[in-house]
Amino acid sequence: MTAPPSGSGDFSKRDERWQIRVRGLQKTFGPQHVLRGVDLDIERGRTNIVIGGSGQGKSVLMKHLMGLLKPDAGQIWVDGEDIVPLGTQQMGRLRRKFGMVFQYAALFDSMNVVENIAFPLIERYHLSRGEIMERVRDLLKRLDLAGVTGIEEKFPPQLSGGQRKRVGLARALIDRPEILLYDEPTTGLDPVAAKNVDEMISRTADDFGVTSVVISHDMASTFRIGDRISMLAGGKIIVSGTSEEVLASRLPELREFVETSGVAAAAAGAHP
Ligand SMILES: Nc1ncnc2c1ncn2[C@@H]1O[C@H](COP(=O)(O)OP(=O)(O)O)[C@@H](O)[C@H]1O
Ligand SMILES: [Mg+2]
Repeated sequence: MTAPPSGSGDFSKRDERWQIRVRGLQKTFGPQHVLRGVDLDIERGRTNIVIGGSGQGKSVLMKHLMGLLKPDAGQIWVDGEDIVPLGTQQMGRLRRKFGMVFQYAALFDSMNVVENIAFPLIERYHLSRGEIMERVRDLLKRLDLAGVTGIEEKFPPQLSGGQRKRVGLARALIDRPEILLYDEPTTGLDPVAAKNVDEMISRTADDFGVTSVVISHDMASTFRIGDRISMLAGGKIIVSGTSEEVLASRLPELREFVETSGVAAAAAGAHP
């Protein structure tokens, strides 16, 4: 089924398959009508990719998912909870379901690796220093950083690009999110580095069992790792499905996007 999801229905019950459901989402900034009725389903435990050209509203859409922006109209359910009306306090609880992986890792250069990773726990007063260190060390191990000599005391400028990415990922994982959001994680990377990031996303999905939402305009990456791909264009999701389904779509916006990226052949190889 490549038609985007539709119908309002009753999404107020937790659904085993669909963790996030978005219906009729609209957002305007001044004269600019960015989201014009977005319908989107995010599949639990899978890698969900939202593609679309620059300026189409992908980041704006992602910010709505974790409640960082309020829509002008429309609804968003996370595990059956309608999040749009939530107040500040309930929003805090909702946000703990999410981890955000920033494009350039966005580490604090004046903090060492442990302090950077533990940063999101700063307000979790019930955790002892020992518990925090246990979590940090567990992540360093699981993300293949434990073998780096003196890693805990290093500062970001002393790390390689790949190490910084993994420290950024550890920070996103430290509060044990169910959903990881990545906004254009491979933008600006050379093909080898982009592939490493893809592997990191896939491995994290498997090892931590998280739901991944990846915003991308990198088609090669999308078809390598996406279980479910949705395209945002003209303020709406115009197509949604597996990579095979989406690649088979005849929609002109999609064809143009796929063809200009020259990825059709690579994508065919990625899904034999
Ligand atoms: N906080 C904001 N205030 C005003 N305009 C915004 C704001 N955030 C995004 N926009 C505008 O919305 C449009 C979509 O932005 P964005 O979601 O960042 O695009 P994308 O991530 O798809 O490249 C852009 O034209 C951008 O300028
Ligand atoms: Mg963006």
